[in-house]
Amino acid sequence: MVEKQITWLQTEYTVNEVLNVAVAKFKAAGVAQPINDARILLGHSLNKPNERFYGREEDLIKSEHLDDFSSKILRRCKREPVSKIIGVKEFWSLELLVSPYVLDPRPDSETLIEAARKQFSDKNRLLNILDLGTGSGCLLLAALQEWPHSYGLGIDIDSRCIEIAKKNAKRNELNHRVKFQTGNWASNLDEKFDIILCNPPYIPTNEIAKLDEEVRLYEPELALNGGPTGLDCYTELASQFSNSLSADGLIFLEIGSDQKKPILGIMKSNNLELIKIEKDLAQIDRCLILSHKHC
Ligand SMILES: C[S@@+](CC[C@H](N)C(=O)[O-])C[C@H]1O[C@@H](n2cnc3c(N)ncnc32)[C@H](O)[C@@H]1O
Repeated sequence: MVEKQITWLQTEYTVNEVLNVAVAKFKAAGVAQPINDARILLGHSLNKPNERFYGREEDLIKSEHLDDFSSKILRRCKREPVSKIIGVKEFWSLELLVSPYVLDPRPDSETLIEAARKQFSDKNRLLNILDLGTGSGCLLLAALQEWPHSYGLGIDIDSRCIEIAKKNAKRNELNHRVKFQTGNWASNLDEKFDIILCNPPYIPTNEIAKLDEEVRLYEPELALNGGPTGLDCYTELASQFSNSLSADGLIFLEIGSDQKKPILGIMKSNNLELIKIEKDLAQIDRCLILSHKHC
């Protein structure tokens, strides 16, 4: 049972005492990284977002400055992710805004950018890049940072994601090279792209209930739910990939664990062929690199 409020009885506390209160509550609530989370949230509460208080554990904090920390502690005890509480998440060295409507960018998805970097090693290339299901804009903005002469289009069905993605472009000074628009995948596009990035929803519907509370309760269902088998979006996307990919272009497609075989089957039956599979840091097959089938 999560408390409704935290009472600070003394007029001031050391940083260490304050962190210990948070850590004890996080441990009781089953939070995975209690110490790390407590330090981040305290920094944000005291308007010092980069401060982690190492070597400053004996500094004093007046209890009148602890209200915001109390509310952040209680939110985290309800298993709201730190990123959603502080409103930002790092991806590929970009600091991105997040909200309840966008999926938190994840390190696994960086596999797509790493894979694209290996395939398009010339940083001076002028590439036309499409990101389908852009969410926070993380994949597209990371790619635009990698190829500074390139342009990109990001599409999401949820206009609230598009709003965040536009803000993220501006925040990272990439807004002059990117357009974000609402849409149903690539269904209304005539243009061809050298790179297509895509991380669609791929969790089978009946597995969503088994996910960590941080994901199940706080990530948008639209970003997770891949239908009964998890493969619905791949089926929808396959024919659209073929239409939007330039003759020599490549698709970088994120997949869930154990989905490689059926997804390859779907792509092959839409005249796309596998170039390579890249693994994520946990050595799980994570990114399919696909091209048009070459006869
Ligand atoms: C797994 S999230 C990926 C977000 C982001 N690209 C990332 O890698 O963190 C999938 C995204 O696809 C979007 N989406 C779902 N169905 C869509 C559709 N039919 N057309 C366009 N976007 C869609 C969701 O709103 C969500 O933002």
